[in-house]
Amino acid sequence: MVWYQPLVFSALLGVSWCTEDWTFPPGFKFGAASSSYQVEGAWNVSDKGESIWDRFTHTRPEKILNGDNGDVACDSYHLWQEDIDNIADLGLHYYRFSISWPRLLPTGFANKISEDGARYYNNLIDGLLEKGIEPMVSLYHWDLPQTLQDLGGWTNPLIADWFADYARVAYSLFGDRVKMWLTINEPMIVCDSAYNTAIIAPGILNSDHGAFLCNKHVLLAHAKAYRVYEEEFRAQYQGEISIANQLIWYEAWTEDDEDIAELAVQYIAGRYSHAIYSEEGGWPPAIEKIIDENSKKKGYATSLLPAFTQEEIELIKGTYDYYAMNYYTSRVVRAAREGEQLIAFPIGDIPDLNAVVGVRPEWPASDASPESSATFFYIYPEGIRRQLVWLKNNYGNLKFAITENGAPDVGGLNDQGRIDYYQKHLKQLLLAIKEDGINLTHFTAWTLMDNFEWTDGYRSKFGLYEVDFNDPLRTRTPRNSARFYANIIKNNALDVE
Ligand code: NOJ
Repeated sequence: MVWYQPLVFSALLGVSWCTEDWTFPPGFKFGAASSSYQVEGAWNVSDKGESIWDRFTHTRPEKILNGDNGDVACDSYHLWQEDIDNIADLGLHYYRFSISWPRLLPTGFANKISEDGARYYNNLIDGLLEKGIEPMVSLYHWDLPQTLQDLGGWTNPLIADWFADYARVAYSLFGDRVKMWLTINEPMIVCDSAYNTAIIAPGILNSDHGAFLCNKHVLLAHAKAYRVYEEEFRAQYQGEISIANQLIWYEAWTEDDEDIAELAVQYIAGRYSHAIYSEEGGWPPAIEKIIDENSKKKGYATSLLPAFTQEEIELIKGTYDYYAMNYYTSRVVRAAREGEQLIAFPIGDIPDLNAVVGVRPEWPASDASPESSATFFYIYPEGIRRQLVWLKNNYGNLKFAITENGAPDVGGLNDQGRIDYYQKHLKQLLLAIKEDGINLTHFTAWTLMDNFEWTDGYRSKFGLYEVDFNDPLRTRTPRNSARFYANIIKNNALDVE
């Protein structure tokens, strides 16, 4: 039904596009993503340093399903050529992967560059380019050097400089060939999930201070890394940089909850975007005010959300070439009732807003096991479009890239659930492009192949390729979704009846 509505509007407005045209704009790019800790393995080869995920999985195996870890994972450290062949078979325009900071800089600092680490990423980049596939590189996908964690990690303000030094090394080694960079992947998970729940590395629970200190420092680290590129590399290399935010789209539970839903979006999207993309910079004002009040109620003299100096505001503002969004799922939100118990964000509610978070009964859970990811990845394809429109309304019509999107299941080659998920989300993106004027240039599937899914170990599968983790060769086999995705890429269009 709903698909006929745009047709009518288009006809009324004399717009030539109609719903039968499910073609992507010319030059639209499709890719797939992975991350170092989730696929590389080889956790201690050569001079590689230990990461916080090595430490966390080795010392607290009870925190991970079946005590699994990424010691071997997909063994992409050795099997990268096979990965490139699979990427080429899909017809991907680009491959998003991350550099392991402790693999490239074994001490965490830029005093020592690992030759083997540099060689590995050079081989991967060159191998991709030989097949006409662009590398899109994330500098940080959660595997912080343990040496830096021992100095406070993301809660230490000096990390902004350590990160900028690391970024400079990466740009100098790879910037001649890498033109799409991402600084930090999903800072909301790095900060909020990590410190408010301690279920992921570094496993430190500190919900008053941890998340907000980290929040400020990831923004500064991103900004400094951006400025290094701008000042020292851009003229020569002409690349583009952004930060990859995972945004959960929040809608009003009932029509009375519009205000709190807007605050929830500001809390998640705004706290990691406003400083970079808004005209005035700094924290989103409404959130800054609420956290200030909450901090006073808790007996603190100053806000737990650390203030920015004017200089910091200017440093961070405008440090983007595009908006990179990871999108998986949405939530509904309402004000808590008198005496209602809240569960800490982001698994559940948002205590700072006194907000209860839920899902609509008609949003299906994913095909993953009910004990695991299924309970997070409720499916609401319209959310991806609405979130983009919110970003456009708040920060202007930027260039947008979807840097992750995908759905988990429990395995098998016939992954119809994943196909439906991609089909529906890509439809919404086409509507966003054609009806809402969103300037979307890239779509990235998460993920190329099954890999280490953090606390869920190897149970939840997200791959276009299945990986046999019982086989020492880690055999990769294309799923039906791989063929489906390859077809979309070949035709630059969705196949819609
Ligand atoms: C986002 C993260 O970037 C990625 O590492 C993770 O595997 C997927 N979400 C699925 O949970």
